[in-house]
Amino acid sequence: MKHIAVMSGKGGVGKSYVASGLAIGLHRMGLRVGVLDADITGASIPHVLGVARGARVNPDGRMAVGRSRGGIAVVSMSLLMPADDKAIIWRGPLISRAITQLHDDTDWEDTEVMVIDMPPGTSDAALTVLQSIVPDAAVAVSTPQDLVTTVASRSHDMALQVGVPLLGFVENMAYLECPHCGERVELFGASRAEQLAECGAPVLAQLPLVPGHAALADAGRLEDAQLPAFEALAAEVWKQLP
Ligand SMILES: Nc1ncnc2c1ncn2[C@@H]1O[C@H](COP(=O)(O)OP(=O)(O)O)[C@@H](O)[C@H]1O
Ligand SMILES: [Mg+2]
Repeated sequence: MKHIAVMSGKGGVGKSYVASGLAIGLHRMGLRVGVLDADITGASIPHVLGVARGARVNPDGRMAVGRSRGGIAVVSMSLLMPADDKAIIWRGPLISRAITQLHDDTDWEDTEVMVIDMPPGTSDAALTVLQSIVPDAAVAVSTPQDLVTTVASRSHDMALQVGVPLLGFVENMAYLECPHCGERVELFGASRAEQLAECGAPVLAQLPLVPGHAALADAGRLEDAQLPAFEALAAEVWKQLP
């Protein structure tokens, strides 16, 4: 099974959106796809992909995966929680152990490629994923903002330091297309693609902010969206996977 980590230096830049979109893109290529929601305290993948809460244990004692409507395998701490508004207030070591358990003690069945929604930043938990799961490759999410771009380059540095190849950056919320006149509005300012590329990894995709996608994600139906940019990203990532 191949593992692709979706990282970001900062929360709220669309890491889970990109992880879900990438998983959907790979799934549309005909691959058997799983998503490990490794953002334990900010778990959101089941919400975006519409996976019902509740965990089942197989006869061999391993946890069974949840399934999106389209059939993407999903494992997340939030499937085990009694309600979405319950906070997980754990210290680093416990969070790290939860991530490795969700990964190791799950029956991933015939999953061919796993997308990992990483914990944000360069924390203990992020390091756990990179060092104990050891993804085959990583993708870092950024937005066109100075701070975010700088923080995204830290993800690049972290991947470099632990020896996980960073395939490149995804610049999310790069622009918004006006629904009336079609004009491109650069919400956060001009693209920082050049600045990102200076880190030594290419920009794989520049994604627009699509209000309809936010609504679909909120309704757990991102799989119903037209996602040409994610299909292109998935094809590129799959091609480049070592
Ligand atoms: N390009 C986009 N178009 C529309 N909505 C987006 C986009 N990127 C992110 N969002 C929405 O913005 C919110 C934050 O994104 P999320 O993926 O949860 O961020 P993170 O995982 O980095 O904290 C979510 O509601 C998500 O659906
Ligand atoms: Mg998230």
